[in-house]
Amino acid sequence: MRFLITAGPTREPIDPVRFIGNRSSGKMGYAIAEAAIEAGHEVVLISGPVDLPRPPGVAVIPVSTSDQMFDAVHEHVRNCDLLVMSAAVADYKPVAVFTKKIKKRDAKLLLELIPTRDVLASLPKNRKYFVVGFAAETDNIETNAQKKLLKKNCDAVVANDARVGMEGDENEVEIFFRDGEKKTISRAPKKIVARELIKILKMFVKKV
Ligand code: CTP
Repeated sequence: MRFLITAGPTREPIDPVRFIGNRSSGKMGYAIAEAAIEAGHEVVLISGPVDLPRPPGVAVIPVSTSDQMFDAVHEHVRNCDLLVMSAAVADYKPVAVFTKKIKKRDAKLLLELIPTRDVLASLPKNRKYFVVGFAAETDNIETNAQKKLLKKNCDAVVANDARVGMEGDENEVEIFFRDGEKKTISRAPKKIVARELIKILKMFVKKV
């Protein structure tokens, strides 16, 4: 199968030297890319700025902002069988980017933000590829994941506790499928979780 995987954070520029980012390390997405290659699949990896080596055999497309992530997914998604959106795409970005460095003043600074474009929600409903979203939550994991599954029109959502999954080397996930099926991968190193996830997705995508 041909996998399109996104990983890592996005950076939303404020001025030439500052940005809004998040704690995503990219480790989960990179582990999924490696596991997919190991299992004999083809992988294109759209990666936000991370401190990880390029997994052998993977075509990496580097991006920085949510807009670049959006455009890169739309460019490549038609050529995949399975999209795995594990990137932590920013939900908001500054209304305008200052062209010069903002100088320090002795006063409050208000930064105005607007929502970014949602990559998952922008995908066509009628499509030939399987779409897997991620949900990093801190509470009501199952309810929030089920909501995302429907709202973002995903075929499956991989849910984890943001406090466990975001930066560390381990993860534990629950996978909710559109037909109501649910699978659990218990706490393990991200590489092991990724291998298990690839097996589950392969089984499931075959059924569809
Ligand atoms: N996502 C996306 N485009 C965005 C933001 C997020 O495609 N602009 C994707 C992520 O890659 C992930 C899924 O949506 O697969 C869920 O992301 P998350 O940030 O958990 O969801 P939100 O809709 O932002 O909900 P909230 O932050 O309120 O929990």
